[in-house]
This record gives sequence, C-alpha cells and structure tokens, in this order.
Amino acid sequence: RCPHEGYPLSQGTVDDACVLTCNWHNWKFDLETGANTMSGDGVRTYPVERRDDGHVWVDVSDPPQDQAAAKILVGLRAAFDERDHGWIARELARLVEVGVDPIVGVQAAVGWCAPRLEYGMTHAFAAAADWLALRDHFAESGCLEDQLICLTETIDHMAFDALREPEHPLPAASEAPYSADALREQIEREDADAAVATVLGAIAAGMDHAALAPTLAQAALAHYNDFGHSLIYVHKTGELLARLGAELAAPVLAAYVRGLCYATREDLIPEFRPYARALAKLPPAFGDAREPCDDAEVRALVGASLSKVFSWVHKQAEARAPEVLHDALTRACAHNILRFDAAHAEASDVKVADNIGWLDFSHGLTFASAVRRTCAAQPSLWGPALLQMACFVARNRRFLDAGEGDPLARYRVDDRQALFAELRARVCDHGLPLPIHPAHWLKTMCAVELELPHMSPSTQEATLAALRRFVHAPMKLKHARRNVHQAMALVGVGDEPSAAR
Ligand code: FES
Repeated sequence: RCPHEGYPLSQGTVDDACVLTCNWHNWKFDLETGANTMSGDGVRTYPVERRDDGHVWVDVSDPPQDQAAAKILVGLRAAFDERDHGWIARELARLVEVGVDPIVGVQAAVGWCAPRLEYGMTHAFAAAADWLALRDHFAESGCLEDQLICLTETIDHMAFDALREPEHPLPAASEAPYSADALREQIEREDADAAVATVLGAIAAGMDHAALAPTLAQAALAHYNDFGHSLIYVHKTGELLARLGAELAAPVLAAYVRGLCYATREDLIPEFRPYARALAKLPPAFGDAREPCDDAEVRALVGASLSKVFSWVHKQAEARAPEVLHDALTRACAHNILRFDAAHAEASDVKVADNIGWLDFSHGLTFASAVRRTCAAQPSLWGPALLQMACFVARNRRFLDAGEGDPLARYRVDDRQALFAELRARVCDHGLPLPIHPAHWLKTMCAVELELPHMSPSTQEATLAALRRFVHAPMKLKHARRNVHQAMALVGVGDEPSAAR
C-alpha cells in the first residue's frame, strides 16, 4: 500500500526508469531503493532473484529490527525537517510495528532540534516533558493512539521551532574546573558561549541535571525573567532528561543555558524596576504562621497595584511562613484568570503595551509551581521568588473585568477527575495550528495537577476554576488588523498615526 494514504500501489504505473507512481496523489518511488522521489515516506523494498528456471523469488522475510528502526529514523528525520505532522505520526507508528519503543524518535528529535535553537531553549523541550508525562498516563490505560498523539505532538513542536533554522554550533566544553560562581557570573553578563562551555564541561566531568539545577535556579531568579520561563524550564529540563535519559543532558542543558543568557530581564523596564528595591526591603527572615490567608485578603490583591502587592508581601513576610504567601499569591493569580476581560484579547485598536492574551495570565500558575518546587529545595530563594509572583499578580490588572458577579461561581469545578479527563482528551485533539497553544494548556494543566496537594482548599477551588476557564476560552490566534494598526502607528502613516502608540 502507498505510505501516503494507503491506496494500492498495485494500481500504480511503472515507467522505463523503474519509478512507480501512485496515481492517487502522484507520489513516486524508486523501485531500486524504495525512496520517495517527491519528498515523503518511502516504501519497503524486498530482495528479488530471478532463477534460471524463469521463476522470480522474492524474500519477504523481515529485516533485523535494528536495520528496520534505522531506516524508519531516516524517514522520521526527513519528516522532522519538513515539519510534516502526518509523516511524523506514520514513522512513529512504524517503529511500533517493528517492535521498537517510539520514544527513540523523540530522543533523536532532541538531537536534531537543539543545535538549531539560536537563542536557546523554547517551549518545545518544556512541552516535551509534559507530553511525555501525558504519554505515561495513557500507557497505564494501554491506549496506543493517545500515546502516539503525545509523541507526535512532541516531535512536531520541536520540528516547528527548528524549521528552516540553520545549525548554531555549540562551543567546546570548558576544561576549567566547574565553578557555580563563574557560571552565574557568565549568565549575568549574558555571555552565552562561556556559560554553555561551562555547563558542557560540568557534564563532561560527570555532573548531572540535579547537580546543576540549584545554580541554574539561582541564576533564573536573579531577575524577573522572561515571563517566568527561566525558572519553569529548570524543572522541565529535569523532567525531560528523567524520561529521555541523562545522555541527552548536553544538548538539553546547553539549549537551556543559552536561553537563560538571552532571557528578557523584565525587572529592567520601568513597570518592574521597583522589584530591586522591594527585594532589598524584605525582612531578614519569614515568620512561621501557617494558617492560610482568608479569601477577602487574597481578593484584595486582585487588581491591586504592584507597590500594593509588594507592600503586602513585605508586611506578611514578618509573620507568615513563605508557603502561606505562596498559596495566597497563587490564588490571586487564579482569580486574575477568572477576572480577565477577554475582550482585550480580541481587540485590534490597541496600543502595543495593551497586547494581552490568555498566555499573559496562565504563566502566573506555571511559575507558581516552579517556585514551590525550587524553594522547597532552596528556601533562601523564597524572597525573590515571592516578589516575582507579586509581579505576576499585578502585571495584568488593567485588563480585569471589574463587573458584578463572582466568576468563581461560574467556573467552579465539582468533579476534578472529570475535569482532568476532559482536558486530557481536549489537548490530544486540540485543533490548534501552532504548537505553542496546546503546549500552554498542557503545561498549565500539569502544573495545577501537581500543585493541588500543596494548596489550601480555597486556592484549590480558585485554581481549578481558572484552569477550566483558560482551557475552554476561545483564542484569537492571529491579529492581522492589530498588527497593521500598530505598524502604521509606529511608522507614522495613515489618518491617526499616533492613535496606537
Ligand atoms: S495514496 Fe499514494 S500518493 Fe496518496
């Protein structure tokens, strides 16, 4: 059968050059090698022998498994380079068919993707950790289709992020003894080559993700960085390597550290410049009161200015344990999602500073998860981590709906197991063209599921409702009018060139 859509190749046409054409969509195959001459899956060939008695013998025995898998991986690489989702799925299914765990396709894809990430790690590797966790969930129920969806989405996202990118060679591993101070300093001065060389040298010397993670988390929290991704990715790289194998530490961590050097330092823009002063004003130690904050106190943070949220953190830090503040700030982030006036995400006639969407809100929850995990291991990081959570609480306050009514009542989740089952099904058939959107549904779902046991009942309630709203919200995925409107305003053409500045 044709590897494209399965129509019978026996109905195809063979020309004088021994090229077989499938007449349904014109794919062509070299009958000597089985290669697809049009770019696409190839076909299997069989040894053929014409004997003296006129008979033709065809050897239909299967090739050794390693040979079959190697050939499939060649096809998968071609599918990766073209970012052909259907082709990726077919090659993964073929690995299953020859009895090979298709995870080898993901392992190979990491190696194909990493060198092409000029500015370091993207969502593709972070989402890979979540897709592989979801695959493990489906493995328990034995549903192969769901498992292959997870793996196909993983590779498709990597292929998308690497598409048409050349390779950006890594520096050689440093031979100097590893120094955490040196690594932090290289990251701070954004010397990506030096930082990557240091990490590669550490890995060559036997250090693993667990050994490097504390320093990477410190560097990630040295600034209010890149919508929290710097810290979130510390954990995602660890999860990814745990599933794919420590032998991929070099490409994964090199990509991560490169990204950390290029991360946007939002504490340097006017809106978040008070962060450094707020950090200096934190009391020397947190209190030890462990009673969760009541709802009225937390709801008062929703819509509050950054200085008010910082002040609240300063005051509460004297009496309350950092876990209590973390719980309250997480709940405030969840209420922000519930209060988001989604009309802002649709609007076209807005200034660049007012470009806002659902992902501007969801990171408050994923960052909160990374904070708890980081600070459980390094309590000295609670101060910067909580103040950065405060930045998430306050940053979108202009886009909240101050209307009457309680959105918590509208989105309340009565059956959390049913919610997660529904979300898993939804994310596996998301229908969204860009991988970044299902990746954010998935990572928020994973973060919430992981954090629920650590939350107070009120925070659980708000966070589940926020997740429900976020994953069901319609998303405007392209802003043609907004982009042109803002371009005209920036360049200064049109009737009202200053309107969107
Ligand atoms: S089924 Fe053969 S080319 Fe489409």
